[in-house]
Amino acid sequence: MLEVQDLAVNYRGVRALGNVSFYLQPGQLVGVIGPNGAGKSTMIKAMLGLVPTASGVVKFCGQVLKQQLRCCAYVPQRSQIDWDYPTTVWSVVMMARSKHTGWFRSPNHQSKEIVATALQRVGMWELRHRQIGELSGGQQQRVFLARALAQQASLFLFDEPLAGIDKKTEAIIFQIFAELKAEGKTLLISSHEWGKELSHYDRLLLLNQYLIANGSPQEVMTLDNIQQAYGAGLQSQLLNESAETIYVC
Ligand SMILES: Nc1ncnc2c1ncn2[C@@H]1O[C@H](COP(=O)(O)OP(=O)(O)OP(=O)(O)O)[C@@H](O)[C@H]1O
Ligand SMILES: [Mg+2]
Repeated sequence: MLEVQDLAVNYRGVRALGNVSFYLQPGQLVGVIGPNGAGKSTMIKAMLGLVPTASGVVKFCGQVLKQQLRCCAYVPQRSQIDWDYPTTVWSVVMMARSKHTGWFRSPNHQSKEIVATALQRVGMWELRHRQIGELSGGQQQRVFLARALAQQASLFLFDEPLAGIDKKTEAIIFQIFAELKAEGKTLLISSHEWGKELSHYDRLLLLNQYLIANGSPQEVMTLDNIQQAYGAGLQSQLLNESAETIYVC
């Protein structure tokens, strides 16, 4: 089980995230939603110890998460990755195995098999020799999903994996999430999406600096909660969007 207790982050003395507490069970697919600047990326990074915290304890299976990062696969938001770095699809996914084989040792047969399977699973095997900077956004996202799979983690933290991808990639990603869930893995996914895809999640955390709501999509996506999170511009957005693209219960 993942336990987050009273997590808070300040940037230069200004509170970006506060009073965030929740529990996640194994086999759960949980979405973190909220507007730009709500603190979704900050929350994920704080959980991993990648930004300093003002308060909070994050435990996975009873132990402090940042002391057992090997069991956790993290995929950062795409804008935070240097796509010009000269490396291939195969090498990026193989990085996930370095913790198992050691940085300076050649990957063993088992690691090569695991990487090949992960690339096939996300439909990127044919492009394994391609430079990562020469991929589309959706293909890049699938490479990082393959890297997370190759890590064989128990906990998966994905920051905006659905941003700017087409329906084919979205379907591949949700299929893999469902398979990981069935294997008892825990998945926390940040997202901007407001559409039907929210129904894929077992639970949602609605965030804007603090946790506004935590529960099933039906419990969380009420007009009241959404207004609290998204504020004044919401009404016109709701009027302009079709019921298909906005999921309000
Ligand atoms: N390194 C930083 N230094 C100072 N302020 C930061 C830093 N990183 C984020 N912030 C601020 O903290 C707040 C939360 O940012 P964060 O990136 O976590 O939001 P987000 O919900 O992930 O947004 P988005 O949907 O745009 O990805 C924002 O106001 C942002 O400007
Ligand atoms: Mg973000």
